[in-house]
Amino acid sequence: MTTGCPAHVGVIMDGNGRWAEKHGLPRSAGHKKGAEAMEALIKYAEKNTDIKYLTFYAFSTENWSRPKDEVKSLMSLFDTYLDRLIADKDRHDTALRFIGDRSVFSETIRDKMSRAERKSGDDKKLTVFIAVNYGGRNEIAAAAKSLAADVKSGKKTDEITEKDISDRLYAPEAPDADLIIRPSGEKRLSNFLLWQSAYAEFWFDDVLWPDFKGSDLIRAVEEYKNRSRRFGGI
Ligand code: IPE
Ligand code: IPE
Ligand code: MG
Repeated sequence: MTTGCPAHVGVIMDGNGRWAEKHGLPRSAGHKKGAEAMEALIKYAEKNTDIKYLTFYAFSTENWSRPKDEVKSLMSLFDTYLDRLIADKDRHDTALRFIGDRSVFSETIRDKMSRAERKSGDDKKLTVFIAVNYGGRNEIAAAAKSLAADVKSGKKTDEITEKDISDRLYAPEAPDADLIIRPSGEKRLSNFLLWQSAYAEFWFDDVLWPDFKGSDLIRAVEEYKNRSRRFGGI
């Protein structure tokens, strides 16, 4: 039996550094090109697919360990991107949300994140989640912490279910991931959507993220449609 279009696709945007190196450019140029590839793919997915949720991994809780200059250029790119989102009059039929631990960002950045989210609205054909300072373990630990607080205050009994955790993730409204895409030749999750990808299908390819096009998304989706998902059944 084949499967329909995936409702929730997660994308690990990897390979910006190698793309830059291949073109004799600084790593920051690879990140800029990578951000453009994301924007183009959002527009493409909205127009040409039935995907309802797209989650992009932009910056992990582990990426702070990169050289100071690179972290600085990534944060400055993020800031510019937020300004563009806020100014943009043509956001199409896409709702935009950020997932991850925002507490590390400055008040200015957090304010811009909320403004960009509000401006994009909701109830759209496609919802895009951008994961910044995101870690799957961090997300599950935060859910456990919130659960412990609710039990301690008597708001909840100590009968903990999977749904109690799911309800406390960064985007409880999003269904589990159906398909995880990772370009650049690496075959690992790197702490992305650990809880949500319990039964996800995986698609790996050697294309570097800045070169990733709508046609690559279609290749991944078509392959997904031919997978047999059993969820533990037969
Ligand atoms: C992904 O590209 C972007 C981030 C992790 C922020 P990389 O910067 O990891 O690119 P490579 O893996 O070095 O090529
Ligand atoms: C994963 O890429 C994180 C993002 C794409 C944001 P990395 O380049 O950080 O992952 P590793 O270090 O190769 O596992
Ligand atoms: Mg990488």
